[in-house]
Amino acid sequence: MHLRLRQFGAVCVLALSMVSTASAQQDEDKTPLGKKMSAMNTAFKAVGRQIDDASKNANTLEQLAIMETNAKAALTLEPEKKAKVPAGDQAKFTAGYQAGMKEFIATVQKLQAAIKAGKNADAVAMYDELKGQQREGHKEYRIKKAGAPPGGN
Ligand code: HEM
Repeated sequence: MHLRLRQFGAVCVLALSMVSTASAQQDEDKTPLGKKMSAMNTAFKAVGRQIDDASKNANTLEQLAIMETNAKAALTLEPEKKAKVPAGDQAKFTAGYQAGMKEFIATVQKLQAAIKAGKNADAVAMYDELKGQQREGHKEYRIKKAGAPPGGN
């Protein structure tokens, strides 16, 4: 019985270490821009869960600050897809990406102002605007992965 328990314990430790290695590997597979996006994604989801709840506004502002910082960092990076665009179109591609990201940052800032003013209902509409900008940004500038929904995260 004792031995069984030990074996079970060893299997659990092994399984746990495999899970953590797999997630570290997933993180390493991400591009520098992908890492900024992942950080934005976590904050964006948190904002979505509580944007209509004024009692959570302090935390909502913290999450929006995380989004703003990562979006500004994303502005200095270039999408992986650029290399797949013909050389003559690359400047236009990068300019379009930067314009999209600047528009996104401006909407995040508008949303911050609405939350600061306690206008949560207005903020909900702006959140939907961000979703649209995310969809467009991904459709245009992100490499489509096999099986991924168009524009999805
Ligand atoms: C709420 C807004 C957004 C969220 C939550 C979001 C989330 C994500 C996520 C989760 C990924 C995959 C990261 C990975 O695992 O590799 C990604 C990739 C990407 N996103 Fe976004 N995104 C947002 C807005 C945008 C916008 C506005 C643009 C462009 C203007 C954009 C462009 C890209 C690109 C180009 C990639 C691929 C990474 C690369 O090429 O290196 N995203 N995004």
